[in-house]
Amino acid sequence: MRRILITTPIYYVNDKPHIGHAYTTLVADVLTRFFRMQGKEVFFLTGTDEHGAKITEVAEKAGKTPKEICDENSEDFKKAWQNLEIKYDYFIRTTDKRHEEAVKKFLEKLKEKNAIYEKEYVGLYCVGCEKFLTEKDLVDGLCPDHKRKPETISEKNYFFKLNLKAVGELIKTKKLKILPCRAESEVLGLLNQKLDDFSISRQKERVKWGIDLPFDKNQTTYVWVDALLNYISAVGYNDNEEEFKKWWVDARVIHLLAKDILKFHAVYWPAMLLSVEIKTPDEEFVHGFFTINGQKMSKTLGNFIDPNDLVKKFGAEVTRYLLLSQFPLSQDGDVKEEKFAEKYNSDLAQGIGNLVSRVLALGEQYGKQIMVQCPDPDLTIKYFNDYKKQMEEFRFNDALATTWNLISYCDKYISDTKPWEKISDEKEFQKILGELIYMLGNISLMLSPVMPKTSQKILGFLKLQGISKQDWLLQKVSLEKQPALFPKNEL
Ligand code: MSP
Repeated sequence: MRRILITTPIYYVNDKPHIGHAYTTLVADVLTRFFRMQGKEVFFLTGTDEHGAKITEVAEKAGKTPKEICDENSEDFKKAWQNLEIKYDYFIRTTDKRHEEAVKKFLEKLKEKNAIYEKEYVGLYCVGCEKFLTEKDLVDGLCPDHKRKPETISEKNYFFKLNLKAVGELIKTKKLKILPCRAESEVLGLLNQKLDDFSISRQKERVKWGIDLPFDKNQTTYVWVDALLNYISAVGYNDNEEEFKKWWVDARVIHLLAKDILKFHAVYWPAMLLSVEIKTPDEEFVHGFFTINGQKMSKTLGNFIDPNDLVKKFGAEVTRYLLLSQFPLSQDGDVKEEKFAEKYNSDLAQGIGNLVSRVLALGEQYGKQIMVQCPDPDLTIKYFNDYKKQMEEFRFNDALATTWNLISYCDKYISDTKPWEKISDEKEFQKILGELIYMLGNISLMLSPVMPKTSQKILGFLKLQGISKQDWLLQKVSLEKQPALFPKNEL
């Protein structure tokens, strides 16, 4: 079975974590848990992108050194992920020595392969984006995302020879799958437009806070080249051949990102890897963008929702549910904070909690052992298969909707069968409650990637015998074999 490497973009440390960053990281966490539930080996990588002129700017304003700002702000990301119960396997920082060494090795390789050359460059540079913009990109002379005027810059840089044909081949042959297909078309469109070679270095005078080029001390590595390389430096590219083979070369590599950084991931990154003959990623999933009143969220614009505030208000598990159930993963959505409270009341306060307490109350009233029974195998398997397919297609909001449909089914089942009137009819009562427990067990399994603790709690309440909660929730449970999982149990 193929191991899986799941990555998020590494986040800029000049911003505080907002719900956009939280969304991608949460998706990675949920996918990791879902794959592990099926017994797959997964490595979940996230981290922070810490070099570039922007950090120097922020540090100067704060009267601190760039390193101090990076240390403080990368901690904010770690804390936010901890608050959201996100469990990554490795948190990379681009200021880690290990990463810096790997970048240098890669740059040497580029030089060896004759994949770079020197050239004088004049362009419009937005420090907010850390990239050159064209006149076409500007709105009223300003960067549309950062509302600031780009600087005109002229300097000598090293350029990377971009082989668009090779990247096009990768994508067309699906060796690199870009999902959803809208994103793939966008990339193919970009390739047709003929993109220029891109510069991989900056003059050190202008961008000091970066990794020196190993072959030219007057230049620092362009922050995007530095950042993309995190995906391989984190899994041993420079210092652990065995690990690199295990988690990059032989693994199924899935990058998660939003459309703002598609060109870097789907064109520049595979082109860089191809030029030094390193395996390219297998899949890139491009999710939608949260906007607030139609505008991109950022600290610079002061319009962001802090995931820590949501956790304080709703708790980690509910926040996870609320973030993932807002929109289909692949679509953009305008977020309003009130929407979270509305959804909380409609889905959670009156949904799952209510069902669990109804079933538990019936069990307590009855007071005897209940045999778990499978209600209608076709029906439960259908719910389960739908759920599994939706999760595999990254349609988390649909998978949650399927879970909630099963919850509604159970509610209706209780109202229709009126078990409280049947306590004296043991056979009938056993059947109804046994079936409800079966379905609740399934519901908790379906909930576990998004709401792991709630899921554990439900299983704990059900006091299932002969099968451990761990078996239910993690590695050992094969989703296809569900119905076989219900031996004699008691409530
Ligand atoms: N540092 C670069 C990425 C380098 S990866 C080698 C960067 N950082 S970022 O902090 O701006 O994060 C961008 C990513 O954060 C997006 O691609 C997306 O995954 C997530 N999001 C940031 N804002 C978002 C929204 N408003 N909505 C959804 N996701 C967003 O770009």
